[in-house]
Amino acid sequence: MRERKVKLPGIEKKVSDITVVLRSFLDKFSIELSFTGESIARRGYRLEAGLAPVREPIAQAMLAVSDWKIGDTLVDPMCGSGTILIEAALVSKLNGEINRYILDESPIFHKLFPDYEFSKAVSPPPEKKTLFGFDIDPEAIRIAKENAYEAGVEDWIHFESGDVLNLKNTFGEAGHLVTNPPYGERIGKPIENLREMYFQMGRVFKNEFPGWKLTVLCGEFALLGKLGMKEHSHLPLKHANLKAKIVNYQIRSAT
Ligand SMILES: C[S@@+](CC[C@H](N)C(=O)[O-])C[C@H]1O[C@@H](n2cnc3c(N)ncnc32)[C@H](O)[C@@H]1O
Repeated sequence: MRERKVKLPGIEKKVSDITVVLRSFLDKFSIELSFTGESIARRGYRLEAGLAPVREPIAQAMLAVSDWKIGDTLVDPMCGSGTILIEAALVSKLNGEINRYILDESPIFHKLFPDYEFSKAVSPPPEKKTLFGFDIDPEAIRIAKENAYEAGVEDWIHFESGDVLNLKNTFGEAGHLVTNPPYGERIGKPIENLREMYFQMGRVFKNEFPGWKLTVLCGEFALLGKLGMKEHSHLPLKHANLKAKIVNYQIRSAT
C-alpha cells in the first residue's frame, strides 16, 4: 500500500470489516479472511450463558468428533445452557449451513463471491424430536429453553431437569451421548465429589446405553479414567485457556 501510495486504512480491533488471520506451523501457512466483522462463533442466540458454557465452535467440534448426523438421536445429560443441542438443531434446520445468515449479510462476501448462492432451504421441525437435554439445575434448563427459542430451534429439542445419575434410556437402541460435565476448573465442586460422580456416571452409561457412542469434553484427564471406559479416539484442544480434550468412547455393557 505504501509503494502504491494508497492511504493506509485504519485498524479497528473490535468490530472490523475484514479480519485477516495468518496461522503458521513449521513451513506451512494459512491465511484466513473473515468478512463478517462479528465473530461467526457468536450466532446471537445466547441470551444467558449459564455457569460454564462451551463456545459454539467447540460444540460443533464435539458433534463432528462424535460422528453425529442429522436425524441421529442425541442426548446431552448435563446440557447447561444447551449449546451442544442448539448447535445440532441449527445444523438440522439449516441443512449444515449454520453461518448462512451472518455471511449473507456481508457486502464484502458478496463482492468477492458474486455467484455464491446460499441455500434458502429451512427444514421444518421433526415430527418426533431426536435431541434431548437434561440438567440437574432447573435454572440451567430455563436458560437452555430461552436460548433455543432465541435460535429458532425450540421445536427441535426436548429439555427437562434431571440428574444424570437417574437417567434412563427411553430413547432407543443407538444414539450419541455428547456432553461437557463439570470438571472442577471452572465450576468449583470438590474434586473428590467429581471422581465419585464420574465413576457413577460411567456405570449409568454402561447399564443404560450399551451400543451408544459417548463424546465428552473434559479438562481434568484423571476424571475421565473414572468413567471406566476405553478411549476410542480424542481431539486435544484449549477450552477456557486450559488444556482439554474431546474424547470418544464406544459404550459397552458393564457385564
Ligand atoms: C460445564 S456445564 C455444561 C455447559 C454446557 N455444555 C453449556 O454449553 O452451557 C456442566 C453442567 O452439568 C450440570 N450438572 C452437574 N451435575 C449434574 C448431575 N448430577 N446431573 C445432571 N447435570 C449435572 C451442571 O448444572 C452444569 O450445567
